[in-house]
Amino acid sequence: MFKVLTKKETSPGVFFMNIDAPRIAKKAQAGQFIVLRVDEKGERIPLTIADFDREKGTILLVFQVIGASTMELSALNVGDSILDFVGPLGTPSEIKKFGTVVVVGGGIGVAPTFPVARAMKEAGNKVIAIMGARSKDILVMEDEMRSVADEVIVTTDDGSYGIKGFVTNGIETLVKRGEHIDQITAIGPVIMMKSVVDFTRPLNIKTVVSLNPVMVDGTGMCGGCRVMVDDKMRFACVDGPEFDGHKVDFKDLMLRQKTYRAEESVEKDHICHIGLGRD
Ligand SMILES: Cc1cc2nc3c(=O)[nH]c(=O)nc-3n(C[C@H](O)[C@H](O)[C@H](O)COP(=O)(O)OP(=O)(O)OC[C@H]3O[C@@H](n4cnc5c(N)ncnc54)[C@H](O)[C@@H]3O)c2cc1C
Ligand code: FES
Repeated sequence: MFKVLTKKETSPGVFFMNIDAPRIAKKAQAGQFIVLRVDEKGERIPLTIADFDREKGTILLVFQVIGASTMELSALNVGDSILDFVGPLGTPSEIKKFGTVVVVGGGIGVAPTFPVARAMKEAGNKVIAIMGARSKDILVMEDEMRSVADEVIVTTDDGSYGIKGFVTNGIETLVKRGEHIDQITAIGPVIMMKSVVDFTRPLNIKTVVSLNPVMVDGTGMCGGCRVMVDDKMRFACVDGPEFDGHKVDFKDLMLRQKTYRAEESVEKDHICHIGLGRD
C-alpha cells in the first residue's frame, strides 16, 4: 500500500499529492510515469512523475479530475493509501547538453515538464520554460519552474497573466528575438503538442513530445497505447512516452482517443450518480 503524505487542491479539480513510494523514488527519472489503481475495483491509470525526492522516498503526482478514476484518487485524504502504484515506467527523457532547451507545458502538462527542465539545467543547458494555461488562476508549478529555468515565459488564453495567447506565441517570441533553440520538449493536450510541432517543423527545431494515449498495463503487454511514429507502430508506454514530434501521426492518435471517450463518459456518469462507493 502506498500512503498519501500530502494533498493540496491548487485550483478547482487540480490536485498535488505526494505519495510514499521509496523504491520508485530511488529509480525515477525525468519523463517517466507510474500506473496506479486506487482500490481493487478501480481502473489502472497512468500519471506522470511530476517530481521525486530520493531522500524522502516520495513521488509527486499532479493531476486533474476529469473522470471516474481521477475523481476517486482526489477523494483520498492524507493517511489513506493507494492499492497499486507501479513504476517508474517508460523510457526516461534524453538528458544531455544540447545547448538551449525550451520546455513547453500546456495546462496540467506544465507539471511533467518540471523534472525535464531541472535535469536539462543540471546537464548544463540554458533552459527556457514556456508555461501555458487558460488563465492565471490555473497555472501550476510557476515557483518550482522559476527555481530551475533561466527564463520563464507565461502565456494565458485570456491574457490574465503573461502573453495573451497560446504557447506557440511564446515560442514565436523567442524565434523573433533571434534565440537559437537546440531542442524543444512539449507536453500537454494532444492538440497543443500538434500545434507546437506544426510551428517548429518549418523552422527545423527538434521537438520532443510526450504522448498520452490510453494505457492499460503500461508495460508493453496489452497494445492499448499503440501510436504511429515515422510510419511504424510503437507502444507509447515502453518505446515512449517521448517521441520525435515531427514523426508522430497526430491524426491517428486523436482518432484513437475519441474511440474511448464515449465509454468513459458513461463510467463517469455512473460513478457521479452512485458516489465513490463503486458497486
Ligand atoms: C503517460 C501518461 C501520463 C499522464 N500523466 C498525467 C498527469 O500527470 N496528470 C494528469 O492529470 N493526467 C495525466 N495523464 C492522463 C490520465 O491518465 C487520465 O486523465 C486518466 O487516466 C483519466 O482517467 P479517469 O477515469 O479519471 O477519466 P476517464 O473519464 O476514464 O477518461 C477521460 C480521458 O482521460 C484519458 N484516459 C482515460 N483512461 C486513460 C488511461 N488508462 N490512460 C491514458 N489516458 C486515459 C482519455 O483521454 C479520456 O478521454 C497521463 C496519461 C498518460 C498516458
Ligand atoms: S499500455 Fe499496454 S502496451 Fe502500452
